[in-house]
Amino acid sequence: MAAKFFLLALLALSFSRARASDPSQLQDFCVADRTSEVFVNGFACKDPKTAVVEDFYFSGLHMAGNASNKQGSAVTAVNVAHIAGLNTLGISLARVDYARYGQNPPHIHPRASEILTVVEGSLYVGFVTSNPENKLFSKVLNQGDVFVFPQGLIHFQYNCGTKKAIAIAALSSKNPGVITIANVVFASKPSIKDDIIAKAFQVDKKIVDHIQAQF
Ligand SMILES: *[C@@H]1O[C@H](CO)[C@@H](O)[C@H](O)[C@H]1NC(C)=O
Repeated sequence: MAAKFFLLALLALSFSRARASDPSQLQDFCVADRTSEVFVNGFACKDPKTAVVEDFYFSGLHMAGNASNKQGSAVTAVNVAHIAGLNTLGISLARVDYARYGQNPPHIHPRASEILTVVEGSLYVGFVTSNPENKLFSKVLNQGDVFVFPQGLIHFQYNCGTKKAIAIAALSSKNPGVITIANVVFASKPSIKDDIIAKAFQVDKKIVDHIQAQF
């Protein structure tokens, strides 16, 4: 009997701790006070009486990002850093512009799932599951198609069309974070020792040194 109760209590506790996104807010809003010196999980709230409509507003997503770079893509993020009123609300979004054959390289959002809509063009997209399966889920998307990238999984988008592409992505965190795989592996500061990366990738150290030099 006691064991059963203990098990139920444990289950209840584990459910109450399960979170799919940022912790939910305990008031109408908590506009980020970026001048606060208090360190909390997120940002401290400014006095709600001082909140203004601009705290909930951003303009500029009609403008294309500059995708003239090595990857051929540009992400224009709109998160709590751009809209202070997103603090504690658990959502944000981004516009992604892709040059012809451009890509948003393999990356992770440590704190958010993502739902992406193709506004213009065609994208080959995918994500890979965790160990041991490492299964690739991939698909070609066209205008109006929507695809989901589950939280914490490596994913990418590649412009497989014949012209530029545009996507709008919504994310389940006010501050999703981005970990670009190539950057963290080959361009950390200071760098990870090349023998470690060489062994991990099963290649010669010279190849690692060559890749590191590209960043
Ligand atoms: C886009 O970026 C490239 C490379 O940094 C730069 O040469 C070019 O002037 C930029 N274009 C615009 C419109 O800002």
